[in-house]
Amino acid sequence: MKICCLGAGYVGGPTMAMIAYKCQDITVTVADINEARINAWNSDELPVFEPGLDDVVRAARGRNLFFTTDKVTAIKEADIIFVSVGTPTKTYGAGAGKAADLKYIELCARDIAQYSDRSKIVVEKSTLPVRTAQGLKTVLEANSTPGLDFQVLSNPEFLAEGTAIEDLSRPDRVLIGGDEDSEAGRKAIQTLVDVYANWVDRDRIITTNLWSSELSKLVANAFLAQRISSINSISALCERTGANVDQVAYAIGTDSRIGPKFLKASVGFGGSCFQKDILNLVYLCEYFGLPDVAAYWEQVIVMNDWQKSRFSQKIVSTLFNTVNGKRIAMLGFAFKKDTNDTRETAAMYVGRDLLDEQAVLAIHDPKVSPEQMFKDLKESRTDADGNPNKQIDVCEDPYAAAKGAHGLAIMTEWDSFKDLDFQKIYDGMYKPAFVFDGRNILDHEKLRKIGFEVFAIGR
Ligand code: UDX
Ligand code: UDX
Repeated sequence: MKICCLGAGYVGGPTMAMIAYKCQDITVTVADINEARINAWNSDELPVFEPGLDDVVRAARGRNLFFTTDKVTAIKEADIIFVSVGTPTKTYGAGAGKAADLKYIELCARDIAQYSDRSKIVVEKSTLPVRTAQGLKTVLEANSTPGLDFQVLSNPEFLAEGTAIEDLSRPDRVLIGGDEDSEAGRKAIQTLVDVYANWVDRDRIITTNLWSSELSKLVANAFLAQRISSINSISALCERTGANVDQVAYAIGTDSRIGPKFLKASVGFGGSCFQKDILNLVYLCEYFGLPDVAAYWEQVIVMNDWQKSRFSQKIVSTLFNTVNGKRIAMLGFAFKKDTNDTRETAAMYVGRDLLDEQAVLAIHDPKVSPEQMFKDLKESRTDADGNPNKQIDVCEDPYAAAKGAHGLAIMTEWDSFKDLDFQKIYDGMYKPAFVFDGRNILDHEKLRKIGFEVFAIGR
């Protein structure tokens, strides 16, 4: 069997690497239009940082795992084609700011139709609005050689970045949606079930109709994000009342109906999925004439935006209502630990707010490149005369970032930040020295003993 995947991003790359790693008799080819990205996948410096990914890729690459820019051959040879290209929020026209932009998905369908000379299974891996499969099928059938059959399956990815390899090798569940009402549809579903059954228990592989599968991905992300917005909303109430949000989260999380996960109060959730997928859900509700349902889910985003801006306002008000010319050390820029991904990271919004207030940002992140930080902050590295940007100082060393700073903000919960020498940091900072722990990961009592003024979320 041959599998190909269109799109070698954070999802397509690791997912296909895992399939190749677990199924030695399947040849897996990942194709992407971005040549630099493919070159990186073929090098020792993978484009995605993910614990354990290097080993999986090294074991399978060149054996039954290939990365290429040649999508034509990849499509022609494949029995199953995964589509894992991006589906960003639309920035133009109808649904701008909410609906998913399906441009790349449709381009993939047209490529598949054009280059296929036999029937194939097409799998939606990207997160898509409900009923996208219908559109895909129509495009495939209208543009291909008559007589070919394309079965469209939905197989959404539930991996979280930073734990992708663990999530892929031992998933809570694999979800496969297809046309349950036809013989060909059932056969296609079974073909994909058999691929995953190479390493996933059969009772963890759920099969549904197409629409349930497409919708489940959006709903899973909406429910997860809703939990974070819920606890973040309570964090503000804790700050006013003397309750401690971590204690509240622990106390409610021991109720098995609630559960302990995704109750960690934070500076706000980020990542490529939560905001995009909830907005997509909101748009679908509006489209189907359900404005109250749309408003209900949109509030999850409103609360998240509020939490991010609340954090930057807290920094400014604490530093005597001005950060103009003051150095603020930002530790962490990725949207969570153990990834180099910064999409929708809270650090970018807090950073932009502080730059608007004329602060000098000294940023340190173990994995995010300076280029990425400048891009996210909408700043250039040099001014018109070629002088370096004086408002942003990217530091390889957290101590250098903190040196001469008035405040230090924890933006990402990297483990390495917990073990820093805070006495040394304190000695290098202006006094009073303020710490804003946007992830509640530091030992605040210890910091206070050193002399820091500490502000945490929800305490
Ligand atoms: C994926 C899904 O696409 C998204 O819908 C889901 O919600 C999360 O996972 P991700 O893998 O994180 O997104 O996206 P990205 O890292 O941007 O990868 C997409 C890749 O597709 C890029 O490398 C891009 O170059 C490639 N691409 C895009 C193509 O090969 N062809 C195209 O036409 C468009
Ligand atoms: C998410 C889903 O978890 C995954 O199932 C889906 O396939 C893609 O979207 P991801 O965005 O990679 O995964 O990371 P996740 O661990 O969900 O974290 C998202 C954001 O929420 C991060 O910014 C994280 O820091 C934040 N978060 C998470 C909290 O603030 N509190 C929590 O308790 C958990």
